[in-house]
Amino acid sequence: MPRLTRRQFMTTASMAVAGAMLPVWPGGTQAAVEISAQDYENLPPLRVTAAQKDILYGAAVGTPNLKKDQRFREAVIRECNVIVPEWEGKWKALMPEARGAWRYEPLDELVQFAQENAMKVRGTALIWHNAFPDWAAGALSEGQGASLMEEYIQTVVSRYRGRIFSWDVVNEAIDPKDGRDDGLRQCLWLEALGPAYIERAFRLAHEADPSAQLVYNDFAMEYWEEKADAVLSLLSRLKNKNVPLHAVGLQAHLQTEKRSRALAKFCAEVKKMELEILITELDIWDNFLVNDVQKTDQLAATTTQKFFELLMPLVRPKQILTWGLSDRYSWLSSKDLNKKNYFGKHVRGLPLDDNCHRKQMWNALHETLMKV
Ligand code: G3I
Repeated sequence: MPRLTRRQFMTTASMAVAGAMLPVWPGGTQAAVEISAQDYENLPPLRVTAAQKDILYGAAVGTPNLKKDQRFREAVIRECNVIVPEWEGKWKALMPEARGAWRYEPLDELVQFAQENAMKVRGTALIWHNAFPDWAAGALSEGQGASLMEEYIQTVVSRYRGRIFSWDVVNEAIDPKDGRDDGLRQCLWLEALGPAYIERAFRLAHEADPSAQLVYNDFAMEYWEEKADAVLSLLSRLKNKNVPLHAVGLQAHLQTEKRSRALAKFCAEVKKMELEILITELDIWDNFLVNDVQKTDQLAATTTQKFFELLMPLVRPKQILTWGLSDRYSWLSSKDLNKKNYFGKHVRGLPLDDNCHRKQMWNALHETLMKV
């Protein structure tokens, strides 16, 4: 890729800024401004560009990585005005050993880090089929489900009231592959409390913190039409029951070869329900990995760019979070994903590489925010 001279870079960058002044989202696909990676360092942080458009940009982070890796911690502080705990806000993290045996320290540390660095905090996830403490399955099967849900949601949401402004109250409750007419995923909460577990969770969360933004969060609605329709049906049922539900989290775990063919209809229907759409877990998985960093990074950038070119004319998300900030700590490379990683290196599906240097995907996000 030809390197730009400094003059060319400044001209290009100023053109990009000029282009960004367009009042509407340009129809065509404008190639991400190809600036060599080291020049990205001169552009303002994503949190600054986002804030200028009244948008929160941030990432999922883990307390251990913030504590052990200064370069990563500094990158999070530089780029993010919102963070979400990748693990610390989940049931298995907060109550790992036994009912009532709370373990707040990791989440408290993360919330304090955010407060010290002028960041907001999202919470994920109050009710989910995953991250169950080992003891919980038995408790639910013994009929403790209703009291457990009440105790858990009331305690957690009350404790972080005013410090966690937005909660994924229910996460990934839809799975058409489970064959139910209502599209619900078979899970321990459904077995214990029936389909009403979802509305119950939202009502408990709203009682505990009436000011919190309450979100239904799920994945694949951008490309899996059957799933998108099932999520829309759930949302409609909840809205018809006046359940306190404010937004939908589109996780946006994008795959380079999948087209977001269901996105437009999904967004249009969600808007009719007067619900916000948040981008909650953006990252890019490339199923056709080539051993070429430049090509992989370009593909991640164009996949990001194309997604937002589709999305922005439809909805203007007030929160855009990537599921991680640096490739070094991406779940996409984690051992339990059983996915091929990038030829023995970290999968390159996030804005910063494993040394926290900005990549083309970072620039795609920067360009997206500039154009909003
Ligand atoms: O179990 C240990 C725990 O004992 C220890 O205290 C803690 C210290 O950080 O680590 C725990 O290990 C792992 C944890 O991630 C933290 O790294 C868990 O074993 C592992 O299961 C957990 O995986 C997370 C997974 O959700 C399940 O919670 C992934 O990091 C996280 O990226 C993934 O995120 C999900 C979203 O919540 C929902 N959308 C899909 C997304 C990817 O699967």
